[in-house]
Amino acid sequence: MNQIDTFDRLMPKYLQYFIDGYNTNVLAYGQTGTGKTFSMVAPAGLVKKNMHPGDSIPDEFGLFLRTCLTLYHQLKDSKDSLMTMQANEIGMMELRDLLNKQPLKIDDAKNELIGSEEVIINSVDDIMKVAYQVENERYSAATAMNLNSSRCHAMVSFRRYRK
Ligand SMILES: Nc1ncnc2c1ncn2[C@@H]1O[C@H](COP(=O)(O)OP(=O)(O)O)[C@@H](O)[C@H]1O
Ligand SMILES: [Mg+2]
Repeated sequence: MNQIDTFDRLMPKYLQYFIDGYNTNVLAYGQTGTGKTFSMVAPAGLVKKNMHPGDSIPDEFGLFLRTCLTLYHQLKDSKDSLMTMQANEIGMMELRDLLNKQPLKIDDAKNELIGSEEVIINSVDDIMKVAYQVENERYSAATAMNLNSSRCHAMVSFRRYRK
């Protein structure tokens, strides 16, 4: 099954939930090497080669990228929408912001991340910059092939605020 079929089978219902205002999560779970990064982001190195996709979504783009770009295209003309993204990583019980590379803490009382950078999305290229940070930051960890990298989990958020 290719990236487009995977997206079409899984996501339309959840995109509608998101547009209706519900929190929606997609989780890729599995052993190292089973294709989580490939399926969620893209084959390694592909983001860097497609930093300005314009109005089209390249066939090789995976689920999170396809989802964010699809939502952006659907919502960009609605004047009451403000869109943002965050990208964090958890590994060996430590949290890290993939956008500013700083360590993070959790506010247990509020059940919130403290200090996670949230960038405003005004264009396709803004989404690609986040994707690049995710790929680049994680890719360098993966090539080190240490125990750490195989136990890291990236969490990318796309949020819509109603103005
Ligand atoms: N559906 C697929 N078709 C072709 N190659 C794939 C597919 N899924 C994964 N791969 C390749 O297999 C390797 C491991 O996939 P990866 O996404 O890095 O796994 P994980 O993130 O689960 O550790 C990568 O080289 C990736 O490009
Ligand atoms: Mg991976």
